[in-house]
Amino acid sequence: MKIIAGNWKMNGTKENLIKMIHDLSELSTENKIILCVPFTMLDTDSGKISIGAQDVSQHAHGAYTGEVSAKMIADTGAKYVIVGHSECRQYHGDTNDTVRKKSAQALANGLTPIICVGETMDEKQAGKTMEIIESGVRESVPTDASADNIIIAYEPRWAIGAGLTPTREEIATAHTLIAKTLTEMGLDGAPVLYGASVKGSNAADIMSVTNVNGVLVGGASLKSDDFIPIITSVK
Ligand code: 13P
Repeated sequence: MKIIAGNWKMNGTKENLIKMIHDLSELSTENKIILCVPFTMLDTDSGKISIGAQDVSQHAHGAYTGEVSAKMIADTGAKYVIVGHSECRQYHGDTNDTVRKKSAQALANGLTPIICVGETMDEKQAGKTMEIIESGVRESVPTDASADNIIIAYEPRWAIGAGLTPTREEIATAHTLIAKTLTEMGLDGAPVLYGASVKGSNAADIMSVTNVNGVLVGGASLKSDDFIPIITSVK
């Protein structure tokens, strides 16, 4: 069983989501499917597909105009939330510290945070990939996490939306480091997803890499014609 998560980013409408849920409901698969959609769609009736948000406030409640709390997300029936996505780190200034606080809010409200870590092109070229990944995991995961209530996503930031993918060896090295770090943190077995330019043509290959427990898919999760081949590419 693999975890196949879609990240719709700021795309789609409720009508699109209802169609996607309908198309996916006809699939026979043992894989776990999660769709992380904009806040406005979180309360959509989704059957066996799990729904997640894409960000959450680091605060519980109060005067934080425009923010959405973990309690509010849980109130819609959603079960997951992406935290520390590279676009939130890049455009909203999220740091490992912020991501840990947001993830703690998610856990306190019964949501599973999908905590993203990954290096930029500058960090990669400076030879800092392993350091960024390891500190990302150590500093972004809250102390009260357990292996069955968090998911880590390795998203090499230079490859997102760029049609670029790391080599199998690069993915294996990153995922093995994450798995080892999680073990050292007492979180042995927490799932680790790979995300960046995943599509039907490369999904099976990526998910066959050691320590890859699933994928987090951006662009190719928006249309069922693109998303279904990813889901059905592995058992
Ligand atoms: P793409 O699949 O479009 O590269 O996006 C990856 C991503 O950011 C998933 O969270």
